[in-house]
Amino acid sequence: MTDRDAAPFDLAAMRKQYRSEGLLEADLAATPVEQFARWFKQAATEGGLFEPNAMIVSTADARGRPSSRTVLLKHFDDEGFVFYTNYDSRKGRDLAENPYVSLLFPWHGVARQVIVNGVARRTGRDETAAYFRTRPHGSQLGAWASAQSRVVASRDELDAAYAELASRYPEGEQVPVPPHWGGFRVRPETVEFWQGRENRLHDRLRYVAEPGGGWRVERLAP
Ligand SMILES: Cc1cc2nc3c(=O)[nH]c(=O)nc-3n(C[C@H](O)[C@H](O)[C@H](O)COP(=O)(O)O)c2cc1C
Repeated sequence: MTDRDAAPFDLAAMRKQYRSEGLLEADLAATPVEQFARWFKQAATEGGLFEPNAMIVSTADARGRPSSRTVLLKHFDDEGFVFYTNYDSRKGRDLAENPYVSLLFPWHGVARQVIVNGVARRTGRDETAAYFRTRPHGSQLGAWASAQSRVVASRDELDAAYAELASRYPEGEQVPVPPHWGGFRVRPETVEFWQGRENRLHDRLRYVAEPGGGWRVERLAP
């Protein structure tokens, strides 16, 4: 295989014309969470997007070095956006040092993206336990078997750890909630709703949290 075979796409020429229906200030809901709920519903139903709750979570360590990964949003309400992970993972360690986080929902299929910037804090243990109990048995064991983000010697090592746990906690047996596993709730400081439009003149409306409560909306140049 030559290098040319490996790169058959002319990426510079790949571009789509986006829809023309815009996003106007007058159309926005009173709060970003309500607006998110509207767009989320549209992405999941009319948009037919696969896993619209998949989001890119970006964190930075104490020295400001960024990293990103995909995570599933599991809950949202006026208190914030919740995801679950391993607290000892890279993202978990980053957030312990630096709680500022960015969540990006890349809804390309409907020419939209939502970007939430805010502060993450751990969910309470009761809330974590309640969610853990809803997970399939295998995922519960997986949370114990994997020291997420650590180097592992081999696939066999991972499979052996899982098999050992599966024999200790057979299907039907209650799996304890791992102490190193749980949720983060991101309380938004800004939420941007981006709607692709023609000629790259996209709509970008950003809610900004006001110090005394409530939200201000500003329009950003595309
Ligand atoms: C579609 C998708 C959904 C994912 N959902 C989660 C999730 O909810 N929680 C999680 O910890 N990792 C999830 N992952 C795995 C993460 O992307 C990542 O590999 C893992 O969390 C370790 O990241 P870190 O080492 O940067 O902390 C998901 C990956 C994909 C592709």
